[in-house]
Amino acid sequence: MARPKAALRVAVVGATGMVGRELVALLERRRFPAAELRPFSSGRARFSVRFKGRSIPAPAVDFRALAACDLVFLVSSETVARRLAPSLARRGVWVIDDSSEFRLDPKVPLVIPEVNAAALDIHKRLIAGPNCTMTGLAVAGWPLHKVARIRELRIASYQAVSGAGRSALGEFFAQTRVLARRLDFAPDGRAPLFPVPHPRALPRAIAGNVFPQVGSFDAAGYSGEENKVASELRKVWGAPGLRVSVTAVRVPVVRGHALAVWLGFARPLSPARARRLLERAPGLELSQEGGYPTPLDTAGRVPVRAGRLRAGVDSKELALWVVSDNLLKGAALNSVQIAEFLWRRAWLRRDATS
Ligand SMILES: NC(=O)c1ccc[n+]([C@@H]2O[C@H](COP(=O)([O-])OP(=O)(O)OC[C@H]3O[C@@H](n4cnc5c(N)ncnc54)[C@H](OP(=O)(O)O)[C@@H]3O)[C@@H](O)[C@H]2O)c1
Repeated sequence: MARPKAALRVAVVGATGMVGRELVALLERRRFPAAELRPFSSGRARFSVRFKGRSIPAPAVDFRALAACDLVFLVSSETVARRLAPSLARRGVWVIDDSSEFRLDPKVPLVIPEVNAAALDIHKRLIAGPNCTMTGLAVAGWPLHKVARIRELRIASYQAVSGAGRSALGEFFAQTRVLARRLDFAPDGRAPLFPVPHPRALPRAIAGNVFPQVGSFDAAGYSGEENKVASELRKVWGAPGLRVSVTAVRVPVVRGHALAVWLGFARPLSPARARRLLERAPGLELSQEGGYPTPLDTAGRVPVRAGRLRAGVDSKELALWVVSDNLLKGAALNSVQIAEFLWRRAWLRRDATS
């Protein structure tokens, strides 16, 4: 397939945030053919980002500058996505949005390239990236689903603080410093009590703590995150009848979401056969038998990682531990992989037609 010349104008809205900084670094590291990068931020401070050895200012959004781009990554917020994405896409700009704003819109493809790149369409210029918690599971479960059809998932997630953005991470570090000082003053070896500064970005103190709330609760008692994991998995796998039960938990980890998952199948699937399937699954790294990944050794790594694959309560159930970097495969990397797919198809230029 003939590739267009590397003359792409690429913008990143939210380039100064947790995901945005990773995204800009990935564009450089993976040699994405961006001739020009236009980073944007809220404009509340004079931020800049480094790209190919240069420091580029990241001012407030300028719609005309965005509309002149071939590709815009939105890594900011639902509000910003709602304001910008549809009008840019209508003008023929490719938009890849990492917020949850359009993920469940039936007209918008919600894409994880290892699973459903086929959902990408040259006529659908607005593309949604998935929730960072379900991405790892979607990649790891897909090869098993194709063979033995997953009917039911039971999930407990252990979610890093960076998943809630830069301000949550700042809060975590501030609380941790207070905790560390208190520990220094407990010389008698008694377990200290841990009151820490009042939380603002997260619902509870996170240093020295875990809590079962990621997002706000609905009338039935489910958190926003729990609902996103269930509904987005159904969309990405094309499995509307999938039964999903999730408890999403925030843990004092900087980076990397982990999930304990029980997978219920329509047909029997042995751990040995599942292991063979997962060993050759794209985008997945399976630990040796008995081994397992952790957030700390997964942070900064490209593949989704899994381990502790074992039999469940009967021949139709397996248990699995899945870890992925929420800022990479959970957001920035997945978006760049979508852009790379569009580039390989020669769809990225504004004048490209089917
Ligand atoms: N963190 C994750 O693991 C993760 C995973 C998947 C998806 N996402 C989604 O990715 C998006 C970014 O998340 P994040 O964790 O990177 O958040 P973040 O660290 O809080 O960064 C937010 C970014 O958006 C910018 N911004 C805020 N208001 C803006 C405005 N009105 N106009 C333009 N830019 C504005 C901020 O600019 P300033 O620097 O000027 O404040 C910053 O660059 C969110 O939609 C989030 O739901 C995040």
